[in-house]
Amino acid sequence: MPELAYLNSRFLPLSEATVSIDDRGFQFGDGVYEVVRTYRGRPFELPAHMQRLEFSAHSIHLSLPVDLLDLTRVVEEGIRLSGFQEAKIYIQLTRGVAPRDHAFPIGRKPTLVMTFREIHPLAQELRAKGVRVVTTEDPRWSRCDIKSLNLLGNVLARQQALEAGAFESLFVRNGVVTEGSVSNVMAIRRGALFTAPTGPAILAGVTRQSVLSMARDAGITVREEALTVPDFCSSEEVFLTGTTIEILPVVRINEILIGSGTPGPITTKLAGLFHAATRG
Ligand code: PDD
Repeated sequence: MPELAYLNSRFLPLSEATVSIDDRGFQFGDGVYEVVRTYRGRPFELPAHMQRLEFSAHSIHLSLPVDLLDLTRVVEEGIRLSGFQEAKIYIQLTRGVAPRDHAFPIGRKPTLVMTFREIHPLAQELRAKGVRVVTTEDPRWSRCDIKSLNLLGNVLARQQALEAGAFESLFVRNGVVTEGSVSNVMAIRRGALFTAPTGPAILAGVTRQSVLSMARDAGITVREEALTVPDFCSSEEVFLTGTTIEILPVVRINEILIGSGTPGPITTKLAGLFHAATRG
């Protein structure tokens, strides 16, 4: 099945989709994006992703070129045309093509791009054994709640993790752990689930929200409070959440073992509930 793209109102093979070097996404990172995952040909939590895209666009004074309903129809049409059952859909909206100038261009149309690719899930062994993460000071700006194309801080942090033989970097800001470079992070302490509250320091993850409601439904106490690095390290369990990684156990932070060094029972229970909700 060929990978598919959508570019300014039409579908075409991904290999044929190109945008101008004057696009402001390329020049300034002046745009926003979403990543949506399908299970068995159905998008997971598509309305929540669409609403976050609208929020991100609105936050940078960018209007969606089509309304959310039409955008949703395009995504659904792309899933159908691509034929992928397990797909990763990337949606990017930029302030369009214009000669390079920092100020907003006048009378230019935004560029709307989507790609539809088959997703290659994480190795089962990673899920079964859990991963190591490292901590790093958060160098990013003060609006991490906007899913903007400016990902340099995230890119550098993820690379730092990989070079340290870890899976993910956890950002630390004002002494507390906020989120990962590509994920949200949660901890279990005395049986309660802790995660940083939504606000400008984190991306309000769609997976985060799903996992929090699954936890509440399962009778687990949820506390949206940020924890320090020592608090995280002394937690019984830690795990990451995200569209592509789903729920991924963390068994080591820097050099410190979490719990017994294997995925804990609450993480395993939530991963089971998540699996049932997406593939059941
Ligand atoms: N990123 N925090 C950050 C910084 C992220 O980049 C992501 C996901 C998340 C989790 O959000 P969600 O559950 O909505 O996927 C949290 C995507 C997958 C990416 O940039 O590729």
